[in-house]
Amino acid sequence: MVNIRRATPEDLFSMQTCNLLCLPENYQFKYYLYHLLSWPQLLFVAENFDKKIVGYVLAKMEEDAVEPHGHITSLAVLRHYRKLGIARKLMEAAHREMQVLFGAVYCSLHVRVTNVAAQHLYMESLSYQIHDVEAKYYADGEDAYDMRCIFKELSGKKFAKNSSKS
Ligand SMILES: CC(C)(COP(=O)(O)OP(=O)(O)OC[C@H]1O[C@@H](n2cnc3c(N)ncnc32)[C@H](O)[C@@H]1OP(=O)(O)O)[C@@H](O)C(=O)NCCC(=O)NCCS
Repeated sequence: MVNIRRATPEDLFSMQTCNLLCLPENYQFKYYLYHLLSWPQLLFVAENFDKKIVGYVLAKMEEDAVEPHGHITSLAVLRHYRKLGIARKLMEAAHREMQVLFGAVYCSLHVRVTNVAAQHLYMESLSYQIHDVEAKYYADGEDAYDMRCIFKELSGKKFAKNSSKS
């Protein structure tokens, strides 16, 4: 049984450890702290029955953009806990808070062009679409897909609001 909940300051070291075990893109501790202090509502962890952190999503808002939108900085689930729907739940939790609390119109992220597992999650399970390709985005020279998930619910409300004015 895995519980999805908001991250607390005590979780940050475990999130960093999970990141180091799962991804080549790693960050200094202060970058996790910066996210937590700036957007505490957008960091979620997956905790097992033993209170061990087995997955996380690190997200933020791009509030100065023309359209306010969220961005997934990092997402990972420990190998033994994969294909159980944990990443999907973490992403859905972050998406929900971006929309409800910050009025995000969409969420963006980068993914390696060879990362088939993550692309399946984003495109098939969460309806992300490829917005652009960023050549040599990663330190090792691999290209990234710049992906976006348009939040239909909010767009629908916006559309309804605008159409009632005319
Ligand atoms: C990508 C990652 C986060 C997915 O985590 P997960 O908890 O296994 O994902 P979920 O169980 O929520 O799966 C979501 C969907 O992706 C599919 N999926 C997961 N792993 C897959 C794989 N290796 N190949 C194909 N599809 C896969 C699942 O079947 C599921 O599809 P469904 O909704 O049609 O049933 C995980 O593999 C991971 O941590 N990888 C290393 C870190 C990483 O790549 N992070 C993303 C960087 S952009």
